[in-house]
Amino acid sequence: MAAAAIATVSLSSVPREKRPRHCASTFNFNARQFSNSSSHCHSFTLRPRVPRPRAACRVIVAQAGGGYKVAILGAAGGVGQPLSLLAKMSPLVSALHLYDIAADVEGVAADLSHCNTPARVSGFTGEDELAGCLSGADVVVVAAGVPRKPGMTREDDRFGANAGVVRELVAAVADHAPPGALVHVISDPVDSTVPVAAEVLKHKGAYDPRRLLGVTALDVVRANAFVAARKGLPLADVDVPVVGGHAAATILPLLSKARPKAAFTDDEVEELTARVRDAGAGGSATLSMAYAAARFLEASLRGLDGHGDVYECAYVQSQVVPELPFFACRVRLGRDGVEEVMGSELRALTDYEARALEALKPTLKASIDKGVAYVQQHQEAALN
Ligand SMILES: NC(=O)c1ccc[n+]([C@@H]2O[C@H](COP(=O)([O-])OP(=O)(O)OC[C@H]3O[C@@H](n4cnc5c(N)ncnc54)[C@H](O)[C@@H]3O)[C@@H](O)[C@H]2O)c1
Repeated sequence: MAAAAIATVSLSSVPREKRPRHCASTFNFNARQFSNSSSHCHSFTLRPRVPRPRAACRVIVAQAGGGYKVAILGAAGGVGQPLSLLAKMSPLVSALHLYDIAADVEGVAADLSHCNTPARVSGFTGEDELAGCLSGADVVVVAAGVPRKPGMTREDDRFGANAGVVRELVAAVADHAPPGALVHVISDPVDSTVPVAAEVLKHKGAYDPRRLLGVTALDVVRANAFVAARKGLPLADVDVPVVGGHAAATILPLLSKARPKAAFTDDEVEELTARVRDAGAGGSATLSMAYAAARFLEASLRGLDGHGDVYECAYVQSQVVPELPFFACRVRLGRDGVEEVMGSELRALTDYEARALEALKPTLKASIDKGVAYVQQHQEAALN
């Protein structure tokens, strides 16, 4: 393994033209980049503040506040609140707009605004304030809806409620957010809600597949944690791509592509695959989901900011599996959102992975079709 590069530098030693546009302030989000292959992975870790030389600090203060505007919809929820806190800590975020139908969001915004990090925080509640929340947003995170309760499946139980929430909120994104805004969909079932969002954007003439991303980062975070624990590997080094979708039957961790290379017995492959797939069965995750969504948000912002080699797994429109118009896969993130879908990762699968990929296709296809049909039915009903 090549040495990991830590992205935090003393800016006073870097020529001005080579400095990043935005840089760390209260916390360091350290980007670790694996440089021993064509694919890369980034993870961020939060580190306590360490004293810096004065010259470096002056540059940081001068550049703070020039970052991106992020809108979080559903910000008063179990995922939304900790995600908002983590976004407030990001040096790349200069404005944080928090929206929820629950008026509590005003209190969340006031509370967060007292954290001495540069992002300005504003709370928005009620439909009348949604347009203001979305105005000028670079990234809109949709975390609104009904969470999974113990025993529920992601796919069916919440589809009716959350498809309606996503349809309504994404329609507002099309109407009020800038055309270049990235949309991150967290609301489950992601396998269906992302197609719902795509259809809504198409009907509004505002669809750009590069800018619509289903957030499956929690599956990667879990796979990394479980593999590191099982194989006794350092957590920061482990990177497991997770493909397919984001339901128990459609999540597929590709252990054969995990880095660092490790030998897994058949039993380990079955056990780890089942563990990643079923990790949400005890009820909806909130804190780990917020961490995963914040990591994904940070990666997207680094992509927008022009950093090279930003890779994450996400559920996006692609042709890597021709019969599945949406598929979770590692993607390269850049100034236009998804700049490349790394379909090469599906080559040279093990027999187990190839069989699992075949097996998940009908379920994922049905979930995609369900999302598309939902919006079409709604459009037809609206016309009648
Ligand atoms: N993608 C993933 O890996 C993943 C993981 C965990 C949870 N989730 C999903 O994220 C969503 C949020 O989960 P949670 O635990 O925070 O739920 P929660 O019930 O705690 O919070 C949801 C929030 O959404 C708000 N909301 C509902 N309808 C809204 C609307 N129309 N406009 C604005 N806000 C609205 C609610 O007032 C609430 O504050 C759920 O759909 C859940 O299933 C996804």
